[in-house]
Amino acid sequence: MAEPFLIGDSMTGGYGNGPDILHDCTIAVEKGEIAVIVGPNGAGKSTAMKAVFGMLNLRSGAVRLDGEDITALTPQARVAKGMGFVPQTQNIFTSMTVEENLEMGAFIRTDDISDTMAQVYDLFPILKEKRNQPAGELSGGQRQQVAVGRALMTKPKVLMLDEPTAGVSPIVMDELFDRIIEVARAGITILMVEQNARQALEIADKGYVLVQGANRFTDTGKALLADPEVRRSFLGG
Ligand SMILES: Nc1ncnc2c1ncn2[C@@H]1O[C@H](COP(=O)(O)OP(=O)(O)OP(=O)(O)O)[C@@H](O)[C@H]1O
Ligand SMILES: [Mg+2]
Repeated sequence: MAEPFLIGDSMTGGYGNGPDILHDCTIAVEKGEIAVIVGPNGAGKSTAMKAVFGMLNLRSGAVRLDGEDITALTPQARVAKGMGFVPQTQNIFTSMTVEENLEMGAFIRTDDISDTMAQVYDLFPILKEKRNQPAGELSGGQRQQVAVGRALMTKPKVLMLDEPTAGVSPIVMDELFDRIIEVARAGITILMVEQNARQALEIADKGYVLVQGANRFTDTGKALLADPEVRRSFLGG
């Protein structure tokens, strides 16, 4: 098997001088595919995402993108390499307008961003309607659209999403998942964390169940959904 497009390989590390949170944890995604990380609260899902994005000092392990070792790169340098990240919290500037948020998202670009902005507005038409409104005035689902749109403004090759559907209604969740599938079909590789595990695994090419900072189950989304132990322990039966 060829190397995955993005891999956090055998990552061990924690925050500052604190204890290790990740223990030999491996997360990977193949080009053009959707990989999903699920697991209980506090399992280290967000920590694994931060580690892959360069926000954690790894004690051991490596991160590689398209075959290149990027373990030592800053998050900003990873953005320049084609990575986009939507964190779980504080992922928009609430006092800025929707459009200003998108412009901020394009901070590393020096070329014309208007085509990309038009694409984001095509993907999320409500954002075009509300483009001059402070992002903080939008609904939860619309704010998540702003956050995803902001990350798309750098034209990433791989988009990392930490709980994009947190706190939204089931209908809005389905809608967001549809948009994420659309992004993936446009050729952008997706690595995401989801608390709506069942729905997320349904759209996942690859799924990771993390427990206490370690890999517990790794398989195709379909196989995990069919696994009795995964169902019983992590999907509510
Ligand atoms: N900034 C931080 N500094 C120190 N410890 C942290 C920090 N962020 C998270 N932790 C700890 O790391 C562990 C894993 O947390 P993490 O946020 O990665 O879990 P999670 O799987 O994303 O949980 P959730 O489902 O609630 O989002 C927890 O014990 C948490 O207390
Ligand atoms: Mg989290």
